[in-house]
Amino acid sequence: MAATTKTATLTFNGKTIELPVHSPTVGPDVIDIRKLYAQGDVFTYDPGFTSTAACESAITYIDGDAGELLHRGYPIEQLAEKSHFLEVCYLLLYGELPTAAQIEDFETRVTRHTMVHEQMHNFFRGFRRDAHPMATMVGVVGAMSAFYHDSTDINDPWQREVAAIRMIAKVPTIAAMAYKYSIGQPFIYPRNDLDYASNFLRMCFAVPAEEYEVDPILSRAMDRIMMLHADHEQNASTSTVRLAGSSGANPFACIAAGIACLWGPAHGGANQACLEMLREIGTVDRIPEYIKRAKDKDDPFRLMGFGHRVYKNFDPRAKVMKQSADEVLALLGIENNPTLQVAKELERIALEDDYFVSKKLYPNVDFYSGIILDAMGFPTSMFTPIFALSRTVGWISQWKEMIGDQAQKIGRPRQLYVGETRREYIEVENR
Ligand code: SDX
Repeated sequence: MAATTKTATLTFNGKTIELPVHSPTVGPDVIDIRKLYAQGDVFTYDPGFTSTAACESAITYIDGDAGELLHRGYPIEQLAEKSHFLEVCYLLLYGELPTAAQIEDFETRVTRHTMVHEQMHNFFRGFRRDAHPMATMVGVVGAMSAFYHDSTDINDPWQREVAAIRMIAKVPTIAAMAYKYSIGQPFIYPRNDLDYASNFLRMCFAVPAEEYEVDPILSRAMDRIMMLHADHEQNASTSTVRLAGSSGANPFACIAAGIACLWGPAHGGANQACLEMLREIGTVDRIPEYIKRAKDKDDPFRLMGFGHRVYKNFDPRAKVMKQSADEVLALLGIENNPTLQVAKELERIALEDDYFVSKKLYPNVDFYSGIILDAMGFPTSMFTPIFALSRTVGWISQWKEMIGDQAQKIGRPRQLYVGETRREYIEVENR
């Protein structure tokens, strides 16, 4: 962190405290409160971290007002159009776009780590067939820490690198295995002659009984969906991975914690909830009923796929996803997909409604993704696992950045305590 000369003055309880202010490359200044408790005997209070920078990072920048998302400075729209997922993985991990030789080496290393230990197959047997694939992924990715714990010295940069490659390579294989297990089909091994997205589609949709040719339209769409979900600054699941990692825990266990957090419907689980909501709405004429419910404070219903903690303008990923949905469905000959029509009309109506406009609620990354995944043949239960396998590179890049930061400490927030003050134990006969 660069030295600073700027300060903020805090005056309260007859005290005046000077706090350092740090300036970012781009974005808001931060007031450094690390010494506030020691100097002022007070905590700050920010339960949802709406105004709190929890770390210093150089990986992803989001400007919520401008609707801008940069990965190592490159706009997501340009990456989605011109790059591919493993190149974005390289960029997130190492900070620069790779040369031709570097990306060839990186893709070879990832490809050759896509198989999982054969004994990993046994972990699936303990799950009910109808277990949600996210439950299976939390369990099996966490179990990977049992296979690599001895070789993961997180203080060794090379071991961190190997863990990152293993994670990026193996999580799609585990996600595909979770899907196959849920439909009672045999696991399909990865193939080294396929690109990353094609490999994942084949592991999901191929069966041993016949050859499977990956449709290049679907492979490109899958790769773009992966790019759009790769990383997103300090979102809830990334913050979970950082906090778990700050104790020195095994990186596979940290990623399992991130998968658990992502599953929630307020976060990555929204893509499944959004398509289920669009199907429940069913037809355009029923949209006003659901808009009314979303605005009703007494109704817990929210428009899934709408709103965002940071974006107070369009989520740039949603724009790219919407274009991709139009392209993919047209290429698949299902442009009149009723769910897509409902989604577009719902977006149009919401964005003309003062409630959504005043609260700056726009479609987010989860609003259109499910329509494409559904058209590709995935059940809704696989939507969040696909988000998880795509976000694995973001989680592991942020984890690597944190572990490599000499200034990092174990995360240990404090609290605003509102419970009982000290009182003496009362024997049961006296209660
Ligand atoms: C992701 O953080 C990230 O970067 C996440 C993510 C990533 O890539 O990692 O971008 C991925 O998680 C996207 C978000 C997916 N979730 C959903 O689509 C679920 C629906 N959205 C909401 O639950 C909500 O918008 C959140 C959780 C996304 C954001 O919630 P905030 O920032 O805590 O905002 P809030 O709940 O305080 O809402 C502000 C106001 C409230 O009204 P008031 O109390 O001010 O009167 O807007 C309302 C909310 O009731 N509101 C909605 C709404 N979202 C917010 N009302 C109706 N429908 C919605 N979807």
